[in-house]
Amino acid sequence: MRALRKPTRRPSLLYLLSAAAIFSLFLCALQSYFSIGNPKISKINEEDVRILSNFQSSVQQCVVNRGLGLTAHIIDHCNLVLKFPQGTNSTWYNEQFKIFEPLEYKYDVCEAILLWEQYRNMTTVLTREYLDARPDGWLNYAAKRIAQLGADKCYNRTLCEEHLNILLPAKPPFHPRQFRTCAVVGNSGDLLKTEFGKEIDSHDAVIRDNEAPVNEKYSKYVGLKRDFRLVVRGAARNMIPILNGSDDEVLIIKSLTHRDFNAMIKRIPNPVYLFQGIVLRRGAKGTGMKSIELALSMCEVVDIYGFTVDPGYTEWTRYFSTPRKGHNPLQGRAYYQLLECLGVIRIHSPMRAERKQDWSDVPTREMISRAHAAAVRVKKNQTGEDGDLGQFHNCKVWGNAHGSGPTSGSPDMSDVRRNSNYSKWEVMPFEKLRKAAREHFIQMEGVSMYKMDGNKLDDLVCVRHSSKSEA
Ligand SMILES: *[C@@H]1O[C@H](CO)[C@@H](O)[C@H](O)[C@H]1NC(C)=O
Ligand SMILES: *[C@@H]1O[C@H](CO)[C@@H](O)[C@H](O)[C@H]1NC(C)=O
Ligand SMILES: *[C@@H]1O[C@H](CO)[C@@H](O)[C@H](O)[C@H]1NC(C)=O
Ligand SMILES: *[C@@H]1O[C@H](CO)[C@@H](O)[C@H](O)[C@H]1NC(C)=O
Ligand SMILES: *[C@@H]1O[C@H](CO)[C@@H](O)[C@H](O)[C@H]1NC(C)=O
Ligand SMILES: *[C@@H]1O[C@H](CO)[C@@H](O)[C@H](O)[C@H]1NC(C)=O
Repeated sequence: MRALRKPTRRPSLLYLLSAAAIFSLFLCALQSYFSIGNPKISKINEEDVRILSNFQSSVQQCVVNRGLGLTAHIIDHCNLVLKFPQGTNSTWYNEQFKIFEPLEYKYDVCEAILLWEQYRNMTTVLTREYLDARPDGWLNYAAKRIAQLGADKCYNRTLCEEHLNILLPAKPPFHPRQFRTCAVVGNSGDLLKTEFGKEIDSHDAVIRDNEAPVNEKYSKYVGLKRDFRLVVRGAARNMIPILNGSDDEVLIIKSLTHRDFNAMIKRIPNPVYLFQGIVLRRGAKGTGMKSIELALSMCEVVDIYGFTVDPGYTEWTRYFSTPRKGHNPLQGRAYYQLLECLGVIRIHSPMRAERKQDWSDVPTREMISRAHAAAVRVKKNQTGEDGDLGQFHNCKVWGNAHGSGPTSGSPDMSDVRRNSNYSKWEVMPFEKLRKAAREHFIQMEGVSMYKMDGNKLDDLVCVRHSSKSEA
């Protein structure tokens, strides 16, 4: 009996014990899943949350002071909602979704500050070193920047080079902090209500859009200085008369190059490049936003004029032509106001024209840097990445610049272009750069940073320049 009982009893005891052990292990796992497994709750540094919350309060106050009726409602240390006052006339009707524009917009300030601070250190012009650095650079990416290629990949690299050479510099022609102040001039009809011409012209560089006319007729309103012009594909064919007499104006093509464009470039003396950082094959953001990105990648202070940012808009007007439909005035107003309160831009408009130029209610550079650093740490803790928080932590692809490389151009360009100064920015020696730009280059250890693609935050392409002459 004993011999029979024992074997049956022992296993049942063992069974109970191990069941208890398994159950307690399960409890442990469950506990750790809810505490350690959810880093949003346990891992965020309280100090960082405090820094970001204080920053949110400054942004909130700034929106109230400067937003012409907008208010900011804080949700947590990262999120806030911008609201238009009740009764705001939301007359812009979205035919596609059959709705009027909403009066509330939610923003993640942490994401916004990470995105926009990054632009200050970015190269936003497509270069040969960028295509060389990306593993799929020539085969896939280059092909996406050429219209009428007739293939989705550059199987014939020679052919693709023929398309791109005319506007492909070896290395960045423009540098972070190259200019102290820049004016970005939109095309809003609002410009005719003020006389910002002289003020616009007083900037170190002026960036304009598409066909915007610059002449005596409009000089009081938009100025005469011409340095950069960001153009979409559709505007290309009108460029020859617009650029006539403005040989130094740099043309930055927003999307793709194509045969008609290239034929035009070969005839003109202007520097022409492709924008780097567009969202390929998705709903692209407006030219206005891209102009701000371009400006931030070269300028310390970015003043915007001629954007639709005052209350009372029902349609999109342009200073040189009749109104067009298809705009989101409230959404634009809210986002630009947020950008101003994040220290990204300074807004100038008819309803702000009478104000004293006082930016003391915008968070200071120091506050913004501190909030940026906190946002980086909070994000790293949330995504569970390891501790690398150095200035290259977003570099996913590395490349090396070899020597100084060829300047843009093609064997069949006209004598007008050949004998012009179109490549002056490409060949400008490092010593001629502004001091702040030189200091930045040294602090970045000679590394140029590019967006891998569009608006995605992370994933940069970083190219190392081994000497200053390669800057
Ligand atoms: C990340 O979480 C850990 C664990 O709570 C915390 O000690 C640390 O301070 C956090 N790191 C940062 C940079 O916030
Ligand atoms: C709102 O817009 C409509 C259509 O443009 C206009 O008739 C109306 O007067 C506006 N109301 C206010 C309060 O601005
Ligand atoms: C590649 O393109 C070049 C330039 O258009 C052309 O001369 C060459 O024949 C092409 N090569 C092939 C293999 O198709
Ligand atoms: C450029 O302007 C000059 C005078 O300012 C004019 O004579 C010339 O025809 C213009 N060229 C083009 C291509 O429009
Ligand atoms: C070309 O541009 C550089 C830099 O702006 C300037 O120093 C030089 O004089 C220009 N040369 C000509 C021929 O315009
Ligand atoms: C941008 O560059 C500056 C040096 O000029 C550096 O201190 C800063 O950390 C960089 N910021 C980002 C977001 O890369």
